[in-house]
Amino acid sequence: MPLLSAKLIRKSYKVSNNPFKQRYLEVLKGISFTLNPGQTLAVVGESGSGKSTLARILVGAEQPDKGQLFFQDKDILQDKHFPWYQNMRMIFQNPATSLNPRATILQTLEEPLINAGQLNHHQRLERIAEVLELVGLRSEHAQRYPHTFSGGQRQRIAIARALMLQPKVIVADEPVSALDVSVQAQIINLLIELQEKLELAYVFISHDLGLVQHFSDKVLVMHNGQQEEYGRVQEVFSQPQSSYTIELLKASAGYKRKS
Ligand SMILES: Nc1ncnc2c1ncn2[C@@H]1O[C@H](COP(=O)(O)OP(=O)(O)O)[C@@H](O)[C@H]1O
Ligand SMILES: [Mg+2]
Repeated sequence: MPLLSAKLIRKSYKVSNNPFKQRYLEVLKGISFTLNPGQTLAVVGESGSGKSTLARILVGAEQPDKGQLFFQDKDILQDKHFPWYQNMRMIFQNPATSLNPRATILQTLEEPLINAGQLNHHQRLERIAEVLELVGLRSEHAQRYPHTFSGGQRQRIAIARALMLQPKVIVADEPVSALDVSVQAQIINLLIELQEKLELAYVFISHDLGLVQHFSDKVLVMHNGQQEEYGRVQEVFSQPQSSYTIELLKASAGYKRKS
């Protein structure tokens, strides 16, 4: 059974406040996919194609206008008690802005545990030490503030925060695009290692088609909110059906030759 499936997700935003002339922008025009435990779905497409909107819907931060989302066999858009927070977590592009600068790492990592209310103080500290080790940091880092870390270390902290409640799905919105190239591979390798250890499923939003090919099982190509193409990575990349995917692949190949 798939862990997560999306069926014909649609979303529009109102873009004019004029009551005589209401205008809507259709940002998602029927997006569908399935994601199995421990697997990675890449979402690719140019800026403005609706990737981050889809990400926010997948972690329950926004409601779609139409469509269904199933977690295992649960219809979670209809279930008022579904614990989104424990099952699906997000990692953002820029850890410099996604971490609270005034909170120590300990406070940042303890917050989801306090909200979940299942562990006492001692157990929370144990869990924090365990997760810091999982992401390649040390427990003595816990007393420090985000600005005292490098970009890569900050992204490790953001990953740790996402892992605190043992989610099944991580939605990563361009998680390495704000990092130095030398650090990107380390974070990708960490994500791969965590996926193997914890059987995590990833929705991995990325511009980097080379990385997507290396890292993902399935790929969803989006263009102006439209699902251009969806399928297994090898199939989509070796025999793209849509002219938009072909253009994306060409652009990415051109870019690689030059660098
Ligand atoms: N809250 C919002 N209100 C109005 N328009 C929005 C809102 N959020 C996103 N959009 C628009 O939706 C489109 C898709 O945005 P986004 O999902 O961020 O795309 P991507 O992540 O692929 O760059 C863009 O045109 C963006 O301006
Ligand atoms: Mg985006």
